Amino acid sequence: MVEAKIGTDIAYAATLLQQGEVVAIPTETVYGLAGNALDTHSIEKIYIAKQRPLFNPLILHTHSIAAIQQFAQISDATIAIAQHFMPGALTLLLPKKAIVPDLLTAGSSKVAVRIPNHPVTLALLKQLSFPLAAPSANPFGYISPVTAAHVLKGLQYQIPYILDGGPCSVGVESTIIEVLPQVVMIHRVGGIAVEAIQAVTNLPVQVVKKHTAQQVHTPGQLKSHYAPHTPLYVGDIHQLYEQYGKGKRVAVIALRQMYTQPNITNFTLAPDGDIATAAAHLFEVMHTIDNGHFDVILAESFPEIGLGLAINDRLHRAQVQWK
Ligand code: TXA
Ligand code: MG
Repeated sequence: MVEAKIGTDIAYAATLLQQGEVVAIPTETVYGLAGNALDTHSIEKIYIAKQRPLFNPLILHTHSIAAIQQFAQISDATIAIAQHFMPGALTLLLPKKAIVPDLLTAGSSKVAVRIPNHPVTLALLKQLSFPLAAPSANPFGYISPVTAAHVLKGLQYQIPYILDGGPCSVGVESTIIEVLPQVVMIHRVGGIAVEAIQAVTNLPVQVVKKHTAQQVHTPGQLKSHYAPHTPLYVGDIHQLYEQYGKGKRVAVIALRQMYTQPNITNFTLAPDGDIATAAAHLFEVMHTIDNGHFDVILAESFPEIGLGLAINDRLHRAQVQWK
């Protein structure tokens, strides 16, 4: 295949998608690898381009809550929560309607649905007569892309076009929720904080903890995700440095503290300590470090408030293959 082009032509992206091609699209969370969500050939192309296992279902992206109702059953309680966050970094897990291909949901009776809050992609979705399937636009298992250049590096010869919408403002993937009669389940922590969801519902909000291999409900919960090529360890930087950092070229990911050992390069995510700012910079920094000359990455454990949960979740998944 020829090399992917990067551009800002929404009409061209729409034409490619109408022809059954896959196109990278910007969202406020991370870049997505989009294809016609109602067309199995387009969906197959997404799985192939990403080298993604077929048991890992894709999120359906559309432009309005009214449009969601064409594809899924949505309860009043779900709509009440959705209205606070959509468009935005929230994905709803809903009972699917027959129009949604089984390949999109990997055979599940539920479909994940989201309305991205990015003007370019909202304009694109409104031009199309079909919704878009879009996983993050990275090769399977690697860090999600938050710029068009990251997409190009990962999928250079797999796709024809990357629609450039600038750097992603939220910077971590959407929060996936399922509103059940007695509880709101959070299947993946992400760009909407758990506290923000709890603030708009009287139901208890419960974060689904790690699954064993047999019980994977949301394969994004598989631990070996979002991993850079450079070994990464999370925890107390001084302890980790003693164990893994001496004599090595060390990159440190921290909220705002600077570490002074001579072989450490500091990557502070938010000098003012703001956790949402830190989340917005996390993947950008991980890409930068991975493209540099480092032997090891040491990351702080972030405060478990707001988007700190999503940051720690992604860091722990990145660490898993090295521990
Ligand atoms: O922010 C986001 O959600 C980004 C942007 C591009 O929208 N997309 C994204 O997609 O992160 P992906 O495919 O990288 O992660 C989607 C997660 C996966 O863990 C997948 O297993 C889960 O959503 N998922 C999708 N459909 C599902 C379903 N029917 N049931 C359970 N989990 C589902
Ligand atoms: Mg992904």
